[in-house]
Amino acid sequence: MISEKTNEIRKQFANDLLELSDDLANLRIKYLGKKGLVTELTSNMASLSIEEKKEVGREANLLRNEIEDKLKELEEEEKNRELEKKLEREKIDVTLPATNIRVGVSNVLQRLIEEVESLYISMGYDVVEGPELEKDLYNFELLNLPKGHPARDAQDTFYTLGDSNLLRSQTSPIQIRTMRANKEKTPIRIICPGKTYRRDNDDATHSHQFNQIEGLIVDKDISLADLKGTFDVLVKKLFGDEVESRFRPSYYPFTEPSVEMDISCFNCHGDGCNICKGTGWITIGGAGIVNHKVLDNCGYDSNKWTGFAFGFGAERLAMLKYGITDIRVFYTNDLRSKENFDRKED
Ligand code: DAH
Repeated sequence: MISEKTNEIRKQFANDLLELSDDLANLRIKYLGKKGLVTELTSNMASLSIEEKKEVGREANLLRNEIEDKLKELEEEEKNRELEKKLEREKIDVTLPATNIRVGVSNVLQRLIEEVESLYISMGYDVVEGPELEKDLYNFELLNLPKGHPARDAQDTFYTLGDSNLLRSQTSPIQIRTMRANKEKTPIRIICPGKTYRRDNDDATHSHQFNQIEGLIVDKDISLADLKGTFDVLVKKLFGDEVESRFRPSYYPFTEPSVEMDISCFNCHGDGCNICKGTGWITIGGAGIVNHKVLDNCGYDSNKWTGFAFGFGAERLAMLKYGITDIRVFYTNDLRSKENFDRKED
């Protein structure tokens, strides 16, 4: 009888489950697969009467549903168990110490340049940049340094072919570019930081690559007193209110008169130490009243316009401000030294 057969299969299934004789996927094939035990029940019904067919069909369906339900339930349980195990395996131990994440700090040189920039911005200057690969015309000639001029020797640099054939030895060509580009010939007030290059042997105070910060004002009635006042504001901002500024006569082809800009030694306050080499004063840049030839070269009528210009070595300022004794640390990428300088500011 059909019910006997189905009961037998039912028992066998219960037994299989009890003994866990096989995994669920195989049990599914064994009972419900194409050649499975339940499927076989209905495989040769041709000889049966309609009544019998109905009964066999009903019984077989009942059994199929029962087994299907049970298997589904077990499969679901198995899935959950595996998920539990996975979660257990991947559990994060929040009591473990955190990995040490190194937080970057801005480079001291960059920070110094930005500090100088923002001071000048607050005095109405614009920040202007220029190309590092420059024309001889802008780097030298229009700055009143014609070919063969002896002052070129101190600014020997790296050369290449083409129209812009040298790595600029100073940021002063940005003055020229800005004045020439100003077609309406209106007043100019700019601060120009940037990389510069020279044929220099690297040592503690020289580098073939360094940064300058150039400044230029072109306007009416500009005097050395304006330059001195502006310089004094910067000095006090960078090194403290007690630091004094001083001008000494000097020579630059692009300014007339020209000066060296000194600050009183912030370390020994004039007594003499190794930072000021015993003099009580430290030179931090050059400057002067823009040479009338430079104004004329750039289309500004030197009878009407005057101006002042200045240039600092950015590394030199940063070295003084942060107590750095070797310029090469700016270019060696040793993060430890950068962090150490940082702490000095705390
Ligand atoms: N360019 C000069 C140098 O590299 C520095 C300098 C001096 C710039 C006087 C100026 C200036 O604009 O007026 O030595």
